[in-house]
Amino acid sequence: MKPKEIIIFGSSGQVGSNLIRRLTKNNYKVTAVTRNIHTKGYNIKKSGNAGWIDLVEFKTFEYDKLRELFKNKDICINLIGILNERRKSSFNNIHCLLPKKLAELCKEYKLKQFIHLSALGVDDVKDSKYALSKANGEYEIKKTFENYIILKPSIIFSRDDKFTTMLLSFIKYLPIFPIYYQGKTEFYPIHVTDVCEIIEKVVIKEIKKETIECIGPEKISFKEILLRLQNSLKIKRLLIPMPISIAKMFATMFEILMKNPLLTRDQLNLLKENNVPSGKYKTNVDLKINSNLKYFDNEIAKYSYMWKDGGEFSREKKI
Ligand SMILES: NC(=O)c1ccc[n+]([C@@H]2O[C@H](COP(=O)([O-])OP(=O)(O)OC[C@H]3O[C@@H](n4cnc5c(N)ncnc54)[C@H](OP(=O)(O)O)[C@@H]3O)[C@@H](O)[C@H]2O)c1
Repeated sequence: MKPKEIIIFGSSGQVGSNLIRRLTKNNYKVTAVTRNIHTKGYNIKKSGNAGWIDLVEFKTFEYDKLRELFKNKDICINLIGILNERRKSSFNNIHCLLPKKLAELCKEYKLKQFIHLSALGVDDVKDSKYALSKANGEYEIKKTFENYIILKPSIIFSRDDKFTTMLLSFIKYLPIFPIYYQGKTEFYPIHVTDVCEIIEKVVIKEIKKETIECIGPEKISFKEILLRLQNSLKIKRLLIPMPISIAKMFATMFEILMKNPLLTRDQLNLLKENNVPSGKYKTNVDLKINSNLKYFDNEIAKYSYMWKDGGEFSREKKI
């Protein structure tokens, strides 16, 4: 039987690299799209067996080139996402107009599924451009292509993320750590392999026309996340609640001075609201998709040793 052909956008990221391995193992043929084959190609190629991955370079707004890529494809998966805006890469362009274009092509070439990663908790945040663009993207996709699947994950974590790894670095090197909104914002962190398992099941079971909120097994507040990371490193830091007006001043400074700001005003607005299921959609837990959701502490312990003195040699030996 001819293997299903899957095209993946944003394939070099945290989810992309884990997903390619899973899909190619299941005999799906993957066309991995990246903006820069030169820097990302080698790592993407390593994610699966030889012969099962085609690499394609696509600069974000070269829409004319896209058409060619959709011929003979069965499924499109969009994993492209940004946390900061930069020139043409605005939230609206990346989270709304680009997915809309992909959905139009899915329709034109009669693909079987368009799987799009949005984010949990974006529907009700009023003053975040990130949230608004993700919510608008979902709306445009649903309007355009009926074989959609929208996945809305809470924070995705793993050794390849930009969240726990950044926090571990701060905890290791800074004696004090600022917390916003008293650290009360709640999340359901989900491990990247669990997100990939959801995508894999959606592909295998040919699920369509569904929005699924994707959560991990535990609700954890931002402060609790920091405490658990500290605990994993066996160090204690002073967590100081920072008034939002001061945090916004710092965020403005970061936005002006840094290419990838540590914190933005938009992210502060996003942090105001809990990152928990809305109740409007089913979750992966309701649908019993995952075989064994992974717990935060167990997974963190598998890579936090890299931030401990002694690195690899600080790992606790299992007897
Ligand atoms: N990580 C989380 O905690 C989290 C939470 C909720 C939702 N999500 C969503 O889940 C999806 C996957 O997340 P992830 O953690 O795998 O993200 P990631 O590691 O940041 O990867 C995203 C990929 O998007 C592509 N990309 C980035 N900027 C782009 C631009 N300006 N134009 C075109 N492509 C661009 C990059 O691929 P190339 O460099 O190969 O082009 C990058 O590898 C995203 O849509 C994200 O918003 C993530």
